[in-house]
Amino acid sequence: MSDNTGGSIDNVMQESRLFPPSDAFLEGCKINSMEAYQQLYDQAAADPVKFWGDLAREELHWFEDFDTTLEWNEPYAEWFVGGKTNVSYNCLDRNLEANGDKTAIIWEGEPGDIRTFTYKELHSEVSRLANAFKKAGVEAGDVVSIYMPMVPELAFAMLACARIGAVHSVIFAGFSAESIADRNNDASAKVQLTADGGFRRGKILALKEIVDEALEKSPTVETCIVLNRTGSDVSMKDGRDIWWHELLESVDDNCPAEPLDSESPLFILYTSGSTGKPKGIKHTAAGYNLYAKKTFEWVFDIRDDDIYWCTADCGWITGHSYIVYGPLSAGATCVMFEGAPNYPAEDRFWDLVEKHKITILYTAPTAIRAFIKWGDEHVEKHDLSSLRLLGTVGEGINPEAWMWYHEKIGGERCPIVDTWWQTETGGIMMSPLPGAVPTKPGSCTKPLPGILPAILDETGEAVGENQGGMLVMTHPWPGMLRGIWGDDQRYKEQYWSKFPGSYLAGDNARCDEDGYYWIMGRIDDVINVSGHRLSTIEVESALVSHPQVAEAAAVGRKDDIKGQAVAVFVTLVDAEASDDMKQELKLHVRKEIGALAQPDDIRFTNALPKTRSGKIMRRLLRDIAEGKEAVGDTTTLEDYSVLAQLRANDE
Ligand code: WT7
Repeated sequence: MSDNTGGSIDNVMQESRLFPPSDAFLEGCKINSMEAYQQLYDQAAADPVKFWGDLAREELHWFEDFDTTLEWNEPYAEWFVGGKTNVSYNCLDRNLEANGDKTAIIWEGEPGDIRTFTYKELHSEVSRLANAFKKAGVEAGDVVSIYMPMVPELAFAMLACARIGAVHSVIFAGFSAESIADRNNDASAKVQLTADGGFRRGKILALKEIVDEALEKSPTVETCIVLNRTGSDVSMKDGRDIWWHELLESVDDNCPAEPLDSESPLFILYTSGSTGKPKGIKHTAAGYNLYAKKTFEWVFDIRDDDIYWCTADCGWITGHSYIVYGPLSAGATCVMFEGAPNYPAEDRFWDLVEKHKITILYTAPTAIRAFIKWGDEHVEKHDLSSLRLLGTVGEGINPEAWMWYHEKIGGERCPIVDTWWQTETGGIMMSPLPGAVPTKPGSCTKPLPGILPAILDETGEAVGENQGGMLVMTHPWPGMLRGIWGDDQRYKEQYWSKFPGSYLAGDNARCDEDGYYWIMGRIDDVINVSGHRLSTIEVESALVSHPQVAEAAAVGRKDDIKGQAVAVFVTLVDAEASDDMKQELKLHVRKEIGALAQPDDIRFTNALPKTRSGKIMRRLLRDIAEGKEAVGDTTTLEDYSVLAQLRANDE
């Protein structure tokens, strides 16, 4: 992609709305002014190592104190060296005294079944499961592959691994047998956890069948533990498969947490990245734990009576850090949900918010755009007055979608935390602290304390105010990945070779005159029109600001004259896909951001191709825009979702 490198990126987005937190929100807020944020940030930036070292001693339980806060041999970091801790201890045992009878997890299944667990109960469930794992031969350092629906046992399993020092690899229960086998082999997984099936929009997903096929090709897996979730008939292989409940029959709940080295691996999480074979991102115990906990507390301004719901799946990093490890080590009450947002109807999320009196909701822009398309009537059926704070993660949020979230869901009283981070970063890196940093729709605002970002051009020079460039981190942080499982070379090349001394995030960004960061999309996604470098999100946001556009994806395609032309894929709310509509949208973008960004091609589609975690697959759309894919003739309406599914199956 040579025409996309070099030079800074033009900033064409005009967004000047500013939303300070309301007085009502500020009441009881811990970090409640810009000055308070700035003071904490400056203190951390002056000596990040001391800052994190002090926090680690305050926030985590140590069986043995550490002697060195950071050993940094670029690109290898070791945090809290010499210390011994246990992540499951920090999440559970540490909460028993003050929070033993407090609800830790409120779980709702897709069919509407509800189960709740106090910290005491969770401690007991996890301890029993940890003993059961030992009985099944799991030892410290073994890799446990988890392919399960969003049931409480999935969280128990992660924590039980952490308790005995086993390393979990959670695989989202939408991946194919082939993908599971690839991941199992890459990690040399020894044990597989699964369920007979999982509920998905009223149907049963035959998880065990998929696992059976995967295990044919996973020679390292010796044992498969199967949870009975749906009561489906499954075949159990002699000598390999055991029922979860049978394994648990004779174990007790006394299982002291193992004191583990700070840097002992906690989990591997496979992420596909933009190209190539999935990489196993490695996170280790103490640094990750501290980072997930503190960022959770800062960003969500968590209070004792909050009912917090993160709608992600535990198969993604968001579920690891902000359903399980962050909230539980902070002693919070979390909602965990098995189902889909539109089953049995499009108001399912709002039904949950009302029923459980949820105070904090953390979800993805892709979901928000779907809600907008489904119509406000589903929202208006429910009382959402319990909400006090909203969050987004996973992609940039288009300012118009932000405004809808703010008005319709937040009733204009809830701050929105737009959180920028990655599987690799372990936790949130940039986000408003909701009581301190006024928000701007579409900006993730400021770095969290202890985080030192910079934006560089091709030569490694910092770009100026409001100029787009490559986002890097100039100092290690405790939550950072410790490597790619079994692939040091790729780790070095991908993140540390472009700018020695800095972590390359792979995203473009700009920083405005107030020090607010605006993520501009992946480096590879820049569109270069006649030497002007446009960011995908800016073109998409201009389109989404049209009342009839539900969702849009912009990509560059080759153009003999301009280098690249702007091709966009648009999902309409309910207008008819017509040539007039195309013309109207072209003019709309021209008016919003200028002639330069006016789309050359517009295609309407019922759905955009997305990865399983909901990100638009621009790579695939680029192929389509360049005619590399047989997509039939150029009728106005094409549905690429099927295509996407075919492609996504075995990434
Ligand atoms: C990539 C990381 C973060 C956990 C879930 C996704 C994009 C993520 C934002 C945001 C703009 C965002 C970036 C990033 N991204 N959050 N708030 N604004 N872009 O984790 O799958 O590792 O993806 O998601 O491009 O690099 P992931």
